[in-house]
Amino acid sequence: MDIKILTLFPQMFSGVFETGIFKRAVDRGLVNVSLHNFRDFAHDAHHIVDDYPYGGGPGMVLKPEPLFEAVEAIKTGMRDEAKHDKLPVVLLTPQGRLFTQAVARELSQQKRLLLICGHYEGVDERVREHLVDDEISIGDYVLSGGELAAMVVVDAVARLLPGVLGSDESPVEESHAEGLLEYPQYTRPPEFRGWSVPEILLSGNHAQIAKWRREQSIRRTVARRPDLLQKANLSTKEKELVRTFQTK
Ligand code: 6GU
Repeated sequence: MDIKILTLFPQMFSGVFETGIFKRAVDRGLVNVSLHNFRDFAHDAHHIVDDYPYGGGPGMVLKPEPLFEAVEAIKTGMRDEAKHDKLPVVLLTPQGRLFTQAVARELSQQKRLLLICGHYEGVDERVREHLVDDEISIGDYVLSGGELAAMVVVDAVARLLPGVLGSDESPVEESHAEGLLEYPQYTRPPEFRGWSVPEILLSGNHAQIAKWRREQSIRRTVARRPDLLQKANLSTKEKELVRTFQTK
């Protein structure tokens, strides 16, 4: 997957894509990230990218010209065969649709992505209307810019690409993959400061372990994120279990 990021602060990304699972994915050619500073596309002497809002009010607004020109230059610069592929343009903004594991899965199906990191009070509305295909927010709080959100999106998407995680790091059983929170995990030692690992996990009975884990997932989701239960895929028996956990 080819990911291009338009940002005023490319230095913020240093290190993030050069470590751990992500670096391994880049080295294997599974994902490629390039950073582009759209200040380079402001043509005035001071490379100004923002301006006062029409109608007054606090803060500054990102001007349309540098963003349009940056996206157009990137599209023009793409290899001929790549030009035929769609390049979905995603704006990171607190006004976007909420980023979830489902959205990460959806984006991971794309061959290419262009992410625009918003800033200040916002971007000129013509950018949203005529340049951007999608707008994403990573949660109901305000960040000072879209950069951290872009890192979150890229990380969550990249780890879903085939081959990025080893089979022992499967994304199938983790939190949110099944619409439930993950079950509790333990590793050695079997007893630590008097606290034991649940007996069942040491039993070697894989059917019983799977059953215990599923129950723990449901119990934890009921306690911490009951909002997730509506969309979770539960059997009739499991729905009964939810009711017993809820009344406890
Ligand atoms: Cl994508 N951008 C900013 N500035 N704040 C946010 C956000 C994005 N998502 C949540 N808060």
